[in-house]
Amino acid sequence: MENRNIFLIGFMGVGKSTIAKILAEELNAELIEMDETIEQEAGLTINEIFDKYGETYFRDLESALIGRITKKGGAVVSCGGGAVLREENVAKMKANGTVVFLTATPETIFERVRYSTNRPLLNGNMNVEYIAQLMKRRQDIYEQAADNVISTDGKDKSQIAEEIIGKDR
Ligand code: S3P
Repeated sequence: MENRNIFLIGFMGVGKSTIAKILAEELNAELIEMDETIEQEAGLTINEIFDKYGETYFRDLESALIGRITKKGGAVVSCGGGAVLREENVAKMKANGTVVFLTATPETIFERVRYSTNRPLLNGNMNVEYIAQLMKRRQDIYEQAADNVISTDGKDKSQIAEEIIGKDR
């Protein structure tokens, strides 16, 4: 694990942050929450970054952060849901770590994110149909980036974490 990272990817609200926290504790590794790091470094919320500077600027911050993470290693990384949209990011992740794709149905995702207001792509689009549509558009990208795919529907957090560790051995 020392020079490698574990990257959790997948749609907004799939549970990347929660699972990353458990994994980092169990593996005694550094925890990196990408969105939180970007917010802290920018001194702005994700909403504010999108509002003031636009999505491309946010994606640039995301790519720059991935660049730094992949130069180091030793971390469990909870990626933003769109962190795999740029091929260069995926290439860097695969080169120095294991990429784990967490999945859930649009209905499950909706239940988890429905009261969230800090996800600009869902603000004003908070419904199962939109989530299903965006998920479908991204499905291939997530699948192609993934070393392992783990379904989270109906499983508890520790079960998911165990599954990931088991596959990474
Ligand atoms: C995004 C997901 C968000 C955040 C931003 C964009 C996306 O992260 O990076 O709102 O494009 O899917 P979470 O997956 O942690 O919600």
